[in-house]
Amino acid sequence: MKQYVWARRRLFNMALLLLVPLLVFAYQRMTSTRWGAAVLNTAAMRPVYRNGDELLGGGTTIVDTSRDAFGRSLRNLVTGHWDEFYQGKVPFERDWDRMLDRGPAPVGPFFSAVGCERCHDHDGRGRPPESNAISESMIVRFSLQDADGSWVPDPVYGEQLDMYHIGGEQGEGIVQVRYDDVAGEFADGGSFTLAKPEYSFHHLRFGPMNERVRFSPRVAPFNFGLGLLEAIPERDILAAADPDDANHDGISGRANRVPDVARKCTTLGRFGWKAGQPTIEQQIAKAFNADIGITSTLYPDDVSGHASANGRTQPELGEQDFRTIVTYVRLLAVPRQRNWQSPVVQHGGAVFNGIQCASCHTTRFETGDVPGYPELSHQVIHPYTDLLLHDMGDGLADNRPDGVASGSEWRTPPLWGIGLVKNVNGHSRFLHDGRARNLEEAILWHGGEAAASQELYRRLSVSDRAALIAFLESL
Ligand code: HEC
Ligand code: HEC
Repeated sequence: MKQYVWARRRLFNMALLLLVPLLVFAYQRMTSTRWGAAVLNTAAMRPVYRNGDELLGGGTTIVDTSRDAFGRSLRNLVTGHWDEFYQGKVPFERDWDRMLDRGPAPVGPFFSAVGCERCHDHDGRGRPPESNAISESMIVRFSLQDADGSWVPDPVYGEQLDMYHIGGEQGEGIVQVRYDDVAGEFADGGSFTLAKPEYSFHHLRFGPMNERVRFSPRVAPFNFGLGLLEAIPERDILAAADPDDANHDGISGRANRVPDVARKCTTLGRFGWKAGQPTIEQQIAKAFNADIGITSTLYPDDVSGHASANGRTQPELGEQDFRTIVTYVRLLAVPRQRNWQSPVVQHGGAVFNGIQCASCHTTRFETGDVPGYPELSHQVIHPYTDLLLHDMGDGLADNRPDGVASGSEWRTPPLWGIGLVKNVNGHSRFLHDGRARNLEEAILWHGGEAAASQELYRRLSVSDRAALIAFLESL
């Protein structure tokens, strides 16, 4: 009997001994991450840097890290283009409400800002407004599904919220944003908090907004390097598109198809957060029209949704200003990478490739032949974009289709120059609506086709994460 009790106790003790590590293991799995995945080993990821890669814009690359780093002309600018570049800087920096010496100001009557520079501060990036402040460099686009299912501008507020009106009259209304905290965890147990935006419209001049209106808040992107992006041959961009994910890597990539107003055809979209514009020229004409309320030969009608009433004959934009500002933007240069020799940055570059960032943020293209622009032709460039649309998941969706882009698709933005935004614009707000407060938050918001890449990032060790961020900062 005694022996039996002793044996039972031994069995019990052994079971307890086995149970304890099991419980500890289960507890660790539960608390580490949702997936319980281990920290990623990056030792095998090799640097991919090749000599000269730091010249992100090839032979056009300039060296500047100052507040003017985004406003310089291509390093190899041909002499014949100097004049036009500097002439184009003038209308870019102009406040178009201060031209009363030339008759009534062409701005408005409704508008979002009085000039390009107001949103693209120093040819750079905008940011969302602070809580309860008025937006300066973020726009809000509207659309509505009509009876036959097509997406059209709101009949009352048009295709964009115009916060201002000429003569100090009340604009259409204002947008405000507040942020809710969203908590998350890294595989090594560290935690992070993201800020999820919530928008509201106030002081609406023409009554409440139709509840069915879909809206898209967007901050102004930087403006340099666009001549090079325009010069990438269409076939090279389309070659990377994989709309049905035939190679089963979870990443599809679609080309946006948008109207080319001048050539009256449908073509590849390249510019804007959803690649809604095909050329620099059309992008700028659209900016004059939708953002500043200035009509041009390409967009002769006011799109604010209200009759143009500032007494100006159409088009309001002179041909000389239009031509030179397009040349100016086309010839804005990409700054050179910094610290590319640093082992940490090189390791960060290896991790960037190793965790699939480069599947969308394409590291290398060669530009084609650009008639009249030998500077832009045949350059090997490192834009870190494929110019394609990717489904980025519900977290980033604005639920407003744009061309063939769905409500959750966004164009991969170029990452060149991204580390200089704080020098030029004094902030580090990223993504289409500027919700990310730093580069790491931008990565952590990635979902949809980029979900696997985001998950791999969360599985990096603290030092690998720091190396990847150091790499982005060097761009
Ligand atoms: C009210 C703010 C605002 C003003 C004013 C403004 N922009 Fe923009 N700009 C934006 C936003 C927002 C986008 C992104 C648009 C989109 O996603 O479709 C943009 C996009 C662009 C792009 C495409 C950049 C890229 O990387 O794809 C160019 C070029 C551009 N603007 C030039 C100009 C010029 C030139 C002017 C002056 C005529 C101007 N903008 C005025 C906010 C503004
Ligand atoms: C499936 C394609 C895809 C993958 C993979 C991907 N990205 Fe992105 N990335 C995008 C798109 C699209 C956006 C724009 C999303 C938005 O603005 O809402 C973006 C935005 C960014 C931004 C902000 C850029 C800006 O101008 O505000 C950074 C930084 C960035 N990505 C870095 C990375 C890094 C680092 C990785 C790897 C961990 C990565 N991305 C993986 C497509 C991708």
